[in-house]
Amino acid sequence: MGTTVVNVKDVQKVFGKRNENQYRALNGVSFNIQEGEFVGVMGPSGAGKTTLLNVVSTLDKPTGGAIQIAGTDITHMKQGQLADFRSEQLGFIFQDFNLLENLTVYENIALPLSLQGVPSRKIKPSVQEVAAKLGITNILEKYPATISGGQKQRAAAARALVHEPAIILADEPTGALDSKSAKSLMEAMVHLHKNHHVSIMLVTHDPLSASYCDRILFIQDGELYKEIFRKGSRNEFHQTILDALSEFTSPDEVE
Ligand SMILES: Nc1ncnc2c1ncn2[C@@H]1O[C@H](COP(=O)(O)OP(=O)(O)OP(=O)(O)O)[C@@H](O)[C@H]1O
Ligand SMILES: [Mg+2]
Repeated sequence: MGTTVVNVKDVQKVFGKRNENQYRALNGVSFNIQEGEFVGVMGPSGAGKTTLLNVVSTLDKPTGGAIQIAGTDITHMKQGQLADFRSEQLGFIFQDFNLLENLTVYENIALPLSLQGVPSRKIKPSVQEVAAKLGITNILEKYPATISGGQKQRAAAARALVHEPAIILADEPTGALDSKSAKSLMEAMVHLHKNHHVSIMLVTHDPLSASYCDRILFIQDGELYKEIFRKGSRNEFHQTILDALSEFTSPDEVE
């Protein structure tokens, strides 16, 4: 048994104040992510996947339960502490990339380190290394507006990794990509996970992207409905995922 990177215990999230229309988006969710594990989160639209990712990523606070990341309880941290924790321990990849248009790819990737006050002579080798891993060394001096969607996504992945976070959190990172770019991003993530033991939590609607994971958590109506593990090949796991999706909801609801 490896080290636990994420420990989610009986997490609840109720939106809306008391006396208002309240909505229970998470209703007692518990799971662990081990160091180096690649975990997918799937489920119908509105199931609570993004809410779950947001509370794990400290962007939102749960209304009940506890979350530990790398041994630290994040549910009782103050805002200032949270900002430091986030910049040191977490890496984010969102659907819209969030690259800053007036910075080069190099500067975008360097950002998490610059924000932590790492001196530039130390930043350079880290950026070079992660860019090489993701195959984007040749576009480091370009601006985001001049590169392809797939290159933007890999630049965003490089930025999420450069500070060696405890975990990478990704919400639909392949959602806006064509199938070739989606495949290359998933392969880059698998490479990092396999060769560099990076832990990843990936929210996705896409069964093909999910088939790269070791394990999938299915969320429905704010609860953990089912969990499946990859045993055989990726093709076999893809089929297992499709079967699981059709079992708990009709396929046309899944998108
Ligand atoms: N800030 C908010 N205030 C009130 N309700 C919210 C808020 N954010 C989300 N919800 C509700 O919580 C539920 C879960 O939303 P969430 O965004 O987590 O779903 P999801 O599983 O990510 O869906 P999708 O697959 O469409 O992205 C939804 O019913 C949504 O309307
Ligand atoms: Mg969502």
